[in-house]
Amino acid sequence: MQLSTFTTNPEQLIDRIAEHGLCVINNFLPEDTVTALSNEAQQLKRASAMQEAGIGREHLAIDKNIRGDSIHWLDEGNSSEAQKGYFEQMESLRLNLNQHLYLGLFGLESHLAIYPAGAFYKRHLDCFAKPTPGKPLRKVTCIVYLNHNWKTEDGGQLRVYLNKADEDHRIDIAPIAGRAVIFLSDTFYHEVLPANRERISLTGWLLTRA
Ligand code: OGA
Ligand code: MN
Repeated sequence: MQLSTFTTNPEQLIDRIAEHGLCVINNFLPEDTVTALSNEAQQLKRASAMQEAGIGREHLAIDKNIRGDSIHWLDEGNSSEAQKGYFEQMESLRLNLNQHLYLGLFGLESHLAIYPAGAFYKRHLDCFAKPTPGKPLRKVTCIVYLNHNWKTEDGGQLRVYLNKADEDHRIDIAPIAGRAVIFLSDTFYHEVLPANRERISLTGWLLTRA
């Protein structure tokens, strides 16, 4: 399972999701798009256009002992060239998943996230056990990493728990530039381990109707 979740071949993506519910894919976005998105995230931070990420249903509570990143929600109707490239890639992922796996995905919400050195996000699931009636559900999580020259000793891995009942059954994925981790939002607990340098990600959730 461990090795077969990794692929660089976009054609294997659907098979991996169908088989394991999880896929790691390198070069999900082109190099120049990754660089531009990373610069945009840093610029938003400098311009104080990022907010401390909240937790819970309405994202209202700030708790640095649970998550320490700052986020910026993307608006598809008001997007940069690089963001357009990202949205196009996500749209083709959405159609691909719908065509082959009948997931009924109809929308996307995405945020850039910056984790300062030392920040983390404790073990969690991306959707709630009890959905809010009438509100769309997060069905597929897609995290794209925007960190150039990331080294193993920089830490900051995404730890994905492969089995709810067995904490030891997990993989640690380095947040290297251009890599995407795609998984079923209601299936995989995951956490962000602390890094010793700033760590940037772009997370999108493909939505389905409750
Ligand atoms: C999240 C999340 C992981 C990451 O935002 O829900 O789990 O690697 N992000 O940024
Ligand atoms: Mn998450």
